[in-house]
Amino acid sequence: MKILGAGGVKSGSLSVALLIVLAAPLPARGDVRPLSRLMLTNLQATNSIGEGVATEDYAAVETAARDLESSARELRTWDAGRLGFRPANRAAFDRYLKQQEEIAGWLMAAARRKDSPAIVAGLDRVLGESCLSCHREFRDRQGILKGSTIFMTSFVNTWKEINRGLLLNDFTLVARGARTLETTGQVMSWDPVLQASFNLSQEAQRNKFRAHLNEMIGAAGRVEDAATRGESDAVRKALVEMWRSGCLSCHQEFR
Ligand code: HEC
Ligand code: HEC
Repeated sequence: MKILGAGGVKSGSLSVALLIVLAAPLPARGDVRPLSRLMLTNLQATNSIGEGVATEDYAAVETAARDLESSARELRTWDAGRLGFRPANRAAFDRYLKQQEEIAGWLMAAARRKDSPAIVAGLDRVLGESCLSCHREFRDRQGILKGSTIFMTSFVNTWKEINRGLLLNDFTLVARGARTLETTGQVMSWDPVLQASFNLSQEAQRNKFRAHLNEMIGAAGRVEDAATRGESDAVRKALVEMWRSGCLSCHQEFR
């Protein structure tokens, strides 16, 4: 396999997820991008509930539970066909969403009572009875969690780690995150990955895509160098470049 990118693959761990991506074919499907947005809201909300209960911020827990309630409510109004589901599955899909709404209501009440053990129990219920159950039935089985999503989720998470490192003055964390972005970017630029995960069948398209990716990899390399020198201003400057010439410019053309 030919690897394009600044300087070849550096050491660093590639997650199992990436290997799954390499193996996964791309099934025909509807546009799940809006669904994916809503799911990221769900994820954010469950994280906020955990953080809220840990810091005894019950107002934050209540707000996050309300987000879970409204995302479930909203999803129930969507057209199943547009998301690539057969209408026959709709009843089961809706059942998980109703469950999410109900548990969210329960969580809001627990937050108002400032009842931490009940919040923890509710968080576990929503994960088990709504999120994971629905994923088991609809996401995993139909394989509609796209490779592109896994890559992009990893990009965002790594960026958060870099930011955290910057704020903690921990340049080792910054450098490690930047290296992960470089490595992941290099794996992403392999031809089979571009075809399977991003549906880019034409070589000209793949080359354009790779050009954006190389911008991102190059900027991540400058983040790493600056972190190694312990220069936070240079890290910030390189991060801005990474967003602008890597993430945003590619999204503008390919998303
Ligand atoms: C009614 C079904 C259903 C429920 C309930 C549900 N999900 Fe999902 N979720 C899905 C499907 C289908 C996908 C795949 C979408 C895709 O391919 O991007 C998904 C994907 C995701 C993803 C990956 C999204 C991405 O694009 O990165 C996350 C994270 C997620 N769900 C979190 C949650 C959380 C947290 C909850 C519970 C609070 C939840 N989900 C409840 C059906 C559901
Ligand atoms: C070379 C192209 C490219 C680069 C570079 C890139 N992305 Fe993306 N990104 C995409 C494409 C294409 C999508 C749409 C994926 C889809 O819907 O299948 C996307 C989607 C996303 C999403 C939404 C997740 C989803 O699947 O709905 C997030 C979040 C994201 N990118 C974050 C980032 C961040 C942060 C960076 C930079 C660190 C970045 N991306 C760099 C091409 C790129």
